[in-house]
Formats: sequence, C-alpha cells, structure tokens
Amino acid sequence: MAITLIIGAQWGDEGKGKIIDYVAKNSKFVVRFHGGNNAGHTVINQYGKFAMHLVPSGIFNPKSKSIISNGTVIDLEVLLNEIEMLEKNKITTKNKLFVSPRCHIIMPYHKLLDSLYEKAKGKNKTGTTGRGIGPVIADKVSYNGIRICDLMDKKIFSQKLNTQLLLKNKILTALGAKPLKQQEIEKTYFRFAKKIKPYVLEPYPMIEKALIKKENILLEGAQGVFLDNDWGTYPFSTASNTVSGAVTQGAGIPPKKLDKIIGVVKAYTTRVGEGPFPTELFDKTGESLQKYGGEFGATTGRPRRCGWFDAELIKFAGSINGFTELAITKLDILDNLPEIKICTHYILNGKKVNYYDGDANFLTRVRPVYRTFKGWKKPTKGITKYINLPKEAKEYLKAIENLVNVKISYISTGAKRQEIIKL
Ligand code: GDP
Ligand code: IMO
Ligand code: MG
Repeated sequence: MAITLIIGAQWGDEGKGKIIDYVAKNSKFVVRFHGGNNAGHTVINQYGKFAMHLVPSGIFNPKSKSIISNGTVIDLEVLLNEIEMLEKNKITTKNKLFVSPRCHIIMPYHKLLDSLYEKAKGKNKTGTTGRGIGPVIADKVSYNGIRICDLMDKKIFSQKLNTQLLLKNKILTALGAKPLKQQEIEKTYFRFAKKIKPYVLEPYPMIEKALIKKENILLEGAQGVFLDNDWGTYPFSTASNTVSGAVTQGAGIPPKKLDKIIGVVKAYTTRVGEGPFPTELFDKTGESLQKYGGEFGATTGRPRRCGWFDAELIKFAGSINGFTELAITKLDILDNLPEIKICTHYILNGKKVNYYDGDANFLTRVRPVYRTFKGWKKPTKGITKYINLPKEAKEYLKAIENLVNVKISYISTGAKRQEIIKL
C-alpha cells in the first residue's frame, strides 16, 4: 500500500504516461494535480494508442478512480473531447472520473493572450504550447480566475465573465486583437457546463478516506522538473510548480504521506520549446535520436530538440524532489549508437559549477563534461528481464544510478505497456 508520485525529471515528455499506465494497475486512485492540457501523455496498451491531455493516464485500469484535482487548469473543450474519445473506445468515464470544482477554467482570452505575449517577445519567446496556461495561472494567483464551481452557477459565471471582459478586452484591443463578446462565450460555456456537470465533485473526501484506509494513490505529474516555475529554466518554463511539493497545493496530499517519489527520465534528453539545453546535439546523432525516438510533441506536434543524458540535471532533480526511485525510458532508442555519452558535470571558466548556480542565461554558457560509453549495438526493444540486457546497457544504467545516487526501479524498453523491466 503506498502513495506514489510520478514526476518528469527533465523537460517533459519523459514517458510519464507509459509508466503511469503500467503502475496504475495497482492503484485505487490516479490523480492529475497540476499543469493543464499543455501536457500530452502517450499511453499504448490493449485498448489502443492515446495521447492524454487532462484525463489521468490511469483511466485504463478498470478498478481505479481517476481524479482531476484543484491544481489542474482545464480547457473544457479539450476535456470534453477527451471524455468522448475514451467513451468511443469503450473506456468508461461515468462514476470513474471526477473533476474538482476548484479547477480554474481556461477562457478564450487566455489562449489569445498566450499567443500575443509570445508574439511581443519575438525571438525571446518561451515557445509555449499556446494553450493559455501562463495567462490562466496568472489570473488564478491574482484573484481574477473563473473556476468550475463558478460555471456551475450561471449568474456567478456571467458576473465574473463580465468583469474579466471589461479588463481583458482593453488589453486585447490594445494589442491589436478583436474584443470578445460575452454572449458568445456564455453560449459555448453553458453548453460545456451541462456536459461536465456529472463529473464535477469535490474529491477531497475520497482522498482523505483513501489516506486513512491506506489505499494506493498514484499522483500523475505533468511537464518536468526543469519546467518548474521556480526551479526550472525560467522564463523558459511553465506556469505551474512541477516539483514534488506541488502535491499538497494541487491535490491536498500532505508531503509526509508520500511513500514513493519516482522520477521518470529518458535514457537521453529532449526539450520542446525555447530555452537552454547544455547537452543538446546539433549533429547526426541528435537527428537519429529524434528520428528513432519519434521525438515530436504529443500536444503540438513540434519537433523535440535532442541531446545526451545530463546527470547534473538529474542529480539536482533527485535532490530537490526527494526521488526514491528512477524510471528510465526509451533505452531501446540508443540500441544502434556506437558510443553513448553522459554529461557528468558542468564547467564554466575552468571551474566546476552546478545547475542551480545561475539562471537560464548562465546555463547557455556552461560546458558539459562527458563520460563516453561503448554502445551495445544490439536490440533491447521489448526486453522484460534485466538479465537479458546487453552488458554495455547494464553498464550505462549502473553509471546513471551511481552518478544520480538514486536506484533505478523501472527500465522501459518500448512504448507499449508490457515493454518494461521491473526491478
Ligand atoms: P510524457 O508526456 O512524459 O507522458 O511523454 P510523451 O508521451 O509526450 O512522450 C514519450 C514518447 O515516447 C511517446 O511517444 C511514448 O509512446 C514513447 N515511449 C515511452 N516509453 C518508451 C520506450 O521505452 N521506448 C520507446 N521506443 N518509446 C517510448
Ligand atoms: P508533458 O506533461 C514538454 C513546455 C512548452 C514550453 C513551456 C511553457 O507532456 O511532459 P506552456 O504551454 O506550459 O506555457 O509552455 O513548457 N511544456 C512542455 N514540454 N512536455 C510537456 O508536458 C509540456 N508542457 C509545457 O513547450 O517550452
Ligand atoms: Mg508529453
């Protein structure tokens, strides 16, 4: 029995969806607690292939309940489409999926502002997913948000929307966009309200009871540690906190209750969007990781930048999140490389420096120092037993464990649910 938190330890897209779908088979509850539909979590199992944006990736376990808790921001159109898609694939959501009334709603002006801010920043843009995440979270923390509980009462929603449009239309028109119309938004959002209502329920009593009964709860992280608004490569970050501490704010789970904190890491590194990336590869190896790794965003389809495994980053991620275990994904993507590198630390002006010593600009100047490993040049795809891994792959994994000082408990060798080694 355990409270397990799974978080991305890099810049997102580490394969969290794959690991969550696997681990969820033992969970009574699976909870999405931060981020929004900027996330794209790929799940491949006996039901098909799914890119999950809001519904927890554990929804495929018939015995568990799925919760979208208060820390998550929601585009209702995306959520309703996702529910419809699941139902079409015979995945039940009624009485199985619950959405917190405290969740903030992404409004049309949030998406517009997201793109207008990006445009204004020009070449210094963050490279957001364009889903309105920064603006909706800015409204949340400045007491200008509209929540699902507001939408459940037409009068309250209309009154809050009216105030927001007074403010937002001034900004939109000043930035050259067209003003938005209250009536049109109301028409759309009242339609959403009717459809989402059966799913809206305060989940805290369920979570509290599960904690008392010591039932298995799986917390599904989105994004990754280095996209955290405080500890990531700000302003090339996301708006949420993505570190382990976010579970209290986002799901009402006391920090002391976490039994396992699993950091998911790719066997190499990727990043989508702008921002520093010390181990980025601009050569044929980078291209091959992108090609064989299918490194294109599950939400926006953008190509992901690729590079070597960066142990300096994962060491820090392990330390700040208190990782108890690591799940390594996409080992199979390294199968054909003659040699593989791991960045062990950074150097700047001849001195060893740490990730946390500086800001995003500082990180563009550090020089990664590499240790080179012999490639295994044998297929690992689909291997389910550690003993069957090539010797060189075992050496590579051991080196990661030693550098990061956290034990590896899952090794993913393919995108499908069963393509995994559990240690
Ligand atoms: P997430 O956002 O962390 O859930 O990750 P994404 O779903 O955005 O990106 C991970 C991609 O890698 C998806 O296309 C997965 O299907 C795929 N994937 C996950 N684990 C493995 C693995 O071990 N091997 C291979 N080849 N693909 C994997
Ligand atoms: P999952 O959960 C990868 C990145 C964007 C951009 C920055 C800010 O699938 O791992 P935002 O739209 O959040 O304002 O964009 O964060 N980003 C992600 N990158 N995976 C994600 O989610 C991401 N969610 C946001 O590319 O650089
Ligand atoms: Mg993703």
